[in-house]
Amino acid sequence: MSRVFSGIQPTGNLHLGNYLGAIRNWVTMQDAHECIYCVVDLHAITVAQDPATLRAGIRDMTAALLASGIDPARSILFPQSQVRVHAELAWVLMCTARMGWLNRMTQFKEKSGKDREGASVGLFTYPVLQAADILAYQATHVPVGDDQKQHLELARDIAQKFNTDMSVELFPLPEPVIQGPATRVMSLRDGNAKMSKSDPSDASRVNMTDDADTIAQKIKRARTDAEVLPSEVAGLAGRAEAANLVGIMAALTDSSVAAVLAQYGGQGFGAFKPALADAAVAVLAPITARFNDLRRDTTAIDVVLAQGAVRARAIAEPVLAAVHRAVGFSG
Ligand code: TYM
Repeated sequence: MSRVFSGIQPTGNLHLGNYLGAIRNWVTMQDAHECIYCVVDLHAITVAQDPATLRAGIRDMTAALLASGIDPARSILFPQSQVRVHAELAWVLMCTARMGWLNRMTQFKEKSGKDREGASVGLFTYPVLQAADILAYQATHVPVGDDQKQHLELARDIAQKFNTDMSVELFPLPEPVIQGPATRVMSLRDGNAKMSKSDPSDASRVNMTDDADTIAQKIKRARTDAEVLPSEVAGLAGRAEAANLVGIMAALTDSSVAAVLAQYGGQGFGAFKPALADAAVAVLAPITARFNDLRRDTTAIDVVLAQGAVRARAIAEPVLAAVHRAVGFSG
């Protein structure tokens, strides 16, 4: 049996990195698997959030996922805070996870920066809540971008240790699904930094809400080197910005890096960038149009989320009951 689980934070806009790295795979996996997708609002408050912005963000992220092709008739789509199992299981798993394991998490180091002492405890234990998200549904496959690899390894370690400590076979070890030519989309301003919702420069990312002109402008201004594109993949070594744009092109056109280079090798960015902008607009414009339409009907969005939560609870609550028995809270 296979079951897919994944999550996304409702902070900021859905961007091209989220879409090409993860959401596209969420959409295709619906064809062959039982899928559960979560708007992770509990994770969002590990850093300060304005309540009104968070409330709007949960709905907007839901509308963006629906616009991208998540189908609530087939998949479960719900907000994490409406299913209490996540927080409760996270507590139990915090007693399974070891300090040393969490101390190794690179995302905490990046996000807490120079102010480790001032970071919330939640930001430190964030990956344990992520493990609880996955394990509450006994999920077997987790489609994510490359940046979540370490958190997924931790989820596997936690699952394994819980099973061993309690002499049960309750949690399957979840497999990360990191696939496609754009598992790590980089900033348009810096080929060595991840494209991210939290980058202060809006020019660093293509948002799913950007119109065609904005997308074309951002791609035109994207940082590049002065060389022409190579004809072979090996020629991208040491050219982070070029590799990033070629990877994005491959993902947008359902192609491969080699095929894109076979077509554009020898050409400069003056020719490549307009083609890339066209490819981006072709994929994003219909999603943006659906998003702008869907987000207006907040009642319909709330219904999707409430119905999703009911279905999610029906799966997660029996798992939590089994956890209670395994640890000795109940007979
Ligand atoms: P989040 O909200 O940062 O990102 C959502 C998804 O988008 C992927 N992603 C990217 N992929 C490629 N290139 C990029 N530049 C890029 N930026 C983001 C992420 O890898 C992710 O798949 N902790 C998670 C959310 C989460 C979760 C979970 C995921 C909570 N619980 C359980 C899987 C399973 C996060 O903050 O993703």
